[in-house]
Amino acid sequence: MKVSIIGAGGLVGSCTAFALQTGKVVQEMALIDVNADVAAGQALDLLHGASLTADQVITAGGYEHIPTSDCICITAGLRRKPDESRLDLINRNTDLFRTILADVRAAGVKADATVVVVSNPVDVLTYIAAQELNLPCGQVIGLGTQLDTARFRSLIAGHLGAAATQVKALILGEHGDSMVPIWSSATVGGLPLENHPCWTPRTADELFTRTKGSGAEVIKKKGGAGFAVGLAIQEVIETVALDRRRILPVSSVQNGCYGIRDVALSVPTVVGRAGVVETLEFELWPKELQALRKSGQVLRQTVDTVLARIGAGV
Ligand code: 2OP
Repeated sequence: MKVSIIGAGGLVGSCTAFALQTGKVVQEMALIDVNADVAAGQALDLLHGASLTADQVITAGGYEHIPTSDCICITAGLRRKPDESRLDLINRNTDLFRTILADVRAAGVKADATVVVVSNPVDVLTYIAAQELNLPCGQVIGLGTQLDTARFRSLIAGHLGAAATQVKALILGEHGDSMVPIWSSATVGGLPLENHPCWTPRTADELFTRTKGSGAEVIKKKGGAGFAVGLAIQEVIETVALDRRRILPVSSVQNGCYGIRDVALSVPTVVGRAGVVETLEFELWPKELQALRKSGQVLRQTVDTVLARIGAGV
């Protein structure tokens, strides 16, 4: 599978490329960035390590790569300031993002290509991409709460002193302030998390609060996320590439799952070569379901504001 990464000159895009190189699954990567020299530098740096990793084609270039790409990952965008919410980014990034969509459309997208949106606010931009790319909605996936879920699991494991790969805990909803912790299905070592001897309700609140603030915490310390978000994107793209049918908390335009429609947010989603294979309405605690629907309402209000501003009228 050939992947084009738009924004590959930046931290998120370059970490994604490195994760895909070490993952050894995708056969080809094209690194695209408004700063062509930096994209070429990232590709060269990756190529220097090819003899130690995998036999992949790694190039830098422009939108000429789009028509032959099976997956298009859009990471380009301005970063949040530490005290800025992701939704504050919306106006600054929407205009830039829609320019990229227009360039992708003009270049020509394969009918069966999958688009992975990472740029923030990712749920709103995923909705806009689904509207403007003339692809079936299921072929447009947002990274959604995939990164939040990874952070959530790692922070829980760190607190408990447990193996991070043995913690299964999910975040759904908005990749943003209205994200929802799904405690009802959280486990460590296959056993209910709430039964762990070191677990208390206060622990739960503290760890979710830290998860929700992790993006801003990383921005404050080092300017922006890179490694974990690259790994989160790698899991989505390789699940597409191998048609793995994994259930992932990725964002897509909903059509009734949990009673939510016409907005993009993260629900349990079976991901395969065609993008969204199906969404699964696992039973949630009443308060979790209520919070998930609230997240959809928050996002819908923002989408309405954005559409009014861009006059799309969709
Ligand atoms: C984050 O939470 C990049 O939005 C991403 O760090």
